[in-house]
Amino acid sequence: MPLPESFLQEIADRNDITDVVSGYVRLTKKSGSNLFGLCPFHSEKSPSFSVSSERQIYHCFGCQKGGSVINFIMEIENLGFRDAVEFLARRSGLEMPQGESYDRRERERMLELNRETARFFFKNLSGAQGAKAISYIKSRGISPEMVKTFGLGSAPNEWSVLRDEMHKKGFSDKELFDAGLVRKGKSGGFYDTFRDRLIFPVIDIRGNVIGFSGRLLGGDDGPKYMNSPETLVFSKSRNLFAMNLAKKSKKGYIILSEGNIDVVSLHQAGFDCAVASLGTALTPEQARLISRYANEVIIAYDSDEAGQKASARAVGILEKLDIKVKILNIKGAKDPDEFIKLKGADAFSNLLHESENHIDFALRGIINKHDLSIDEQRVAYIKESAAVLASLPSLVEREVYSMRIAETASVSPKIVTDEVERIRKGKLSKAKKSYEKAVLKVANDAHPKEKSMRYENQRSALAEEGIIRLAISDDTLLDGTHLTGSDFSSNILGKFFDVIMEKSQRGAPLSIATLGEDFTGEEISHLTSIIEKPEILINGKKAVSDYINIIKTEKQSSLVDDDALKAYQKLRQDNKKGMVENNE
Ligand code: GTP
Ligand code: MN
Repeated sequence: MPLPESFLQEIADRNDITDVVSGYVRLTKKSGSNLFGLCPFHSEKSPSFSVSSERQIYHCFGCQKGGSVINFIMEIENLGFRDAVEFLARRSGLEMPQGESYDRRERERMLELNRETARFFFKNLSGAQGAKAISYIKSRGISPEMVKTFGLGSAPNEWSVLRDEMHKKGFSDKELFDAGLVRKGKSGGFYDTFRDRLIFPVIDIRGNVIGFSGRLLGGDDGPKYMNSPETLVFSKSRNLFAMNLAKKSKKGYIILSEGNIDVVSLHQAGFDCAVASLGTALTPEQARLISRYANEVIIAYDSDEAGQKASARAVGILEKLDIKVKILNIKGAKDPDEFIKLKGADAFSNLLHESENHIDFALRGIINKHDLSIDEQRVAYIKESAAVLASLPSLVEREVYSMRIAETASVSPKIVTDEVERIRKGKLSKAKKSYEKAVLKVANDAHPKEKSMRYENQRSALAEEGIIRLAISDDTLLDGTHLTGSDFSSNILGKFFDVIMEKSQRGAPLSIATLGEDFTGEEISHLTSIIEKPEILINGKKAVSDYINIIKTEKQSSLVDDDALKAYQKLRQDNKKGMVENNE
């Protein structure tokens, strides 16, 4: 029986690949979020062995070997898959699963129970028992629309309402207890965990309700927040509150805040890209989750000292993944929620922009270097500033800043704008050349070395790779598409796709680690090289449909080719027959 994917994922999570590899290879060079060293699997003088802490994979650009931490141990310790897993289990103090202990049915039941529970809390809001929560919601200025968007709910002030309700639906005390929804009393009976609280369901990126966060409705009877404990389906360190919503945002960046209320408030004000960690400091796993959806994060933690310290820590974690990070300075309020209530959404938007203004910073540096009363230095000032402005993508911004520079240097604005556009043109054609070179390189690299994996239809295969990349990062992107591996032009890519979809349908986690047991070393190396190529999930739905279009049109045209060939062969046969008949 194959090892459960949840266990393989846990092995990979607990054995950070850079830590493990560092035990064998000296990783010296750094480029983006990748570390480089000399490949332990072939001899070389300059490092082409890379380890990505973001994707938790290794890949050698020289010998093409690659995979997850499990594959690395297989290669370097010369072990089979299971033995490598056991090796890593021991290294991280995990027990190997016995029999059915990681049953997927158990997982499904728990998700079902959580969904029913969320529904129950939500329904409760409209009844008499929800009045207190409703008035709290109103007092915090949360709109009915947000109540719906987040599926907020009310846990009544009773000891056994949820429990009774879920018994009626066929769930046992053990199931409720395992899901963290009831607790055991001293006398051995069970009582509801969440009582007299505003409920925030925690939903993962696939839309599963994995846990709950419950806030006091005013007063100070117990801790302000109560979260579900770690369960089979809930891991605080690996999830972010509202990531299910933020992943659909078109903003292109993520706002990371501390509180659930901050997140709701931000979404209500139109910042649909806000998330929060679940009452813990940001973890590397959460950072990796973010990096799949955005390459820029704006940290909007509380303005108190604790919040500022937490910001600094979060910066360190995010920067390792090569994510652009900015810290918001929330002036005159303790947190984003309070700021928005005091000053409004526009003021918050300005705050975001201010945090972005590195242009002013750069220009100030240039002006300080030059004495503008000397002509020569004035020219240098204009040229250097123009070079900074040339990298701004927005024409309006380039114009506005050009005017400011012209004024400072006492020249006509046209002189500055011309200079900016001249530099920009030069840059663009250079960028275009290097882009074309990169595309060419990708096309050349795309061909797997292994003969059995060669691509026959390059165009379709690149789209197929794209689909695979997206599916592994976020399989919900494939929801509602009716694609199967048989639509693929490449057999191996089709096989990758089918295995991924089969796991996805079971709700299994997807990564090189969890796919490890299904493929040969060569296949995993190839899959790793596919994952290695960049793909940002923003607008992932559109990317998926573009890729599918390519695959379908290529398939169509190959069918047409096939049909044409068949028709031609039939014609020839018929002709031959005809000739024979004629001869008779
Ligand atoms: P308000 O202060 O009402 O605006 O709530 P908030 O959502 O902004 O929460 P706060 O800034 O106080 O705390 C930030 C986050 O830390 C919360 O959203 C919770 O996830 C977590 N948290 C806060 N208090 C507790 C607590 O007492 N216990 C636990 N486990 N987590 C907490
Ligand atoms: Mn707060």
